[in-house]
Amino acid sequence: MTFFTKDKFYIVTGASSGIGRTTALLLNELGGSVIAVARNKNRLEEMKTNCKNPQNMYLEVKDLTEDIENLPIYVKNLKDKYGKFAGMAYCAGIGIRNPLRTIDYETIKKIFDINYIAPILMTKGIADKRNNIGKGCSLVYLSSIDAKLSSKGQPLYSGSKAALSATIKSLSKEVVQNGIRMNCILPSMIVTPMTKSDEFHTNEICEQYPFGWGETIDVANMIIFLLSDESKYISGQNYVVDSGGVL
Ligand SMILES: NC(=O)c1ccc[n+]([C@@H]2O[C@H](COP(=O)([O-])OP(=O)(O)OC[C@H]3O[C@@H](n4cnc5c(N)ncnc54)[C@H](OP(=O)(O)O)[C@@H]3O)[C@@H](O)[C@H]2O)c1
Repeated sequence: MTFFTKDKFYIVTGASSGIGRTTALLLNELGGSVIAVARNKNRLEEMKTNCKNPQNMYLEVKDLTEDIENLPIYVKNLKDKYGKFAGMAYCAGIGIRNPLRTIDYETIKKIFDINYIAPILMTKGIADKRNNIGKGCSLVYLSSIDAKLSSKGQPLYSGSKAALSATIKSLSKEVVQNGIRMNCILPSMIVTPMTKSDEFHTNEICEQYPFGWGETIDVANMIIFLLSDESKYISGQNYVVDSGGVL
């Protein structure tokens, strides 16, 4: 079993829902201090009422796409408030279907802002030596199996996740000199509010995955492992979590 200590601070984005919520709760239960970031204050507060160690759960209401160019400064301000970071789980994201006829500049920007640009600029902030603990710092990102599958109807989502996976792998080679590790997870279909609509529950999609739909804990466990020192020899990887399905 992996344990964390309360003097280790982790940013968890998307902590108000789905995979990010489960990750924030598990990391807090295992002893880490969590800076839980999302837009919806009520859902963040509801998450906190379910956590095991409320004294180590800190809520930050923030739209990561607002004032996006200043996200590195946002991270510095969080560091001034809480202390240097031991890591981040970037779980915020949107998963809209966009066939070609619906694509325009604004739609591309909306998806790439939260799925690609925000995680990169958050990384710039955390990777700054003044804002992290150095060796032992681990950054984990939610990409998607669609980064590899490029499913029909998901060109922008697939593109944003493929770009994220490629960029994180490249950046991992830079930050290694400061002892920082970076990895992406590429889940398949996980039951969350993002995937509740009928369009995701087709026989064609369900039959692709031998163990059916995954649960948020299936991904959160992998995030915890990658955040922990138990994965200290692992960096720059893209891990598919799809129950041995299509990849
Ligand atoms: N579920 C799946 O099957 C699946 C599969 C592969 C990959 N993924 C990836 O896993 C990640 C988590 O997905 P999920 O299924 O857990 O989704 P979810 O339940 O819809 O949660 C998404 C989270 O992102 C936050 N968020 C969205 N826009 C934001 C913004 N502008 N600023 C700050 N926070 C924002 C939301 O919080 P607020 O609304 O409170 O801001 C929410 O906490 C996503 O990156 C997704 O692409 C999911």
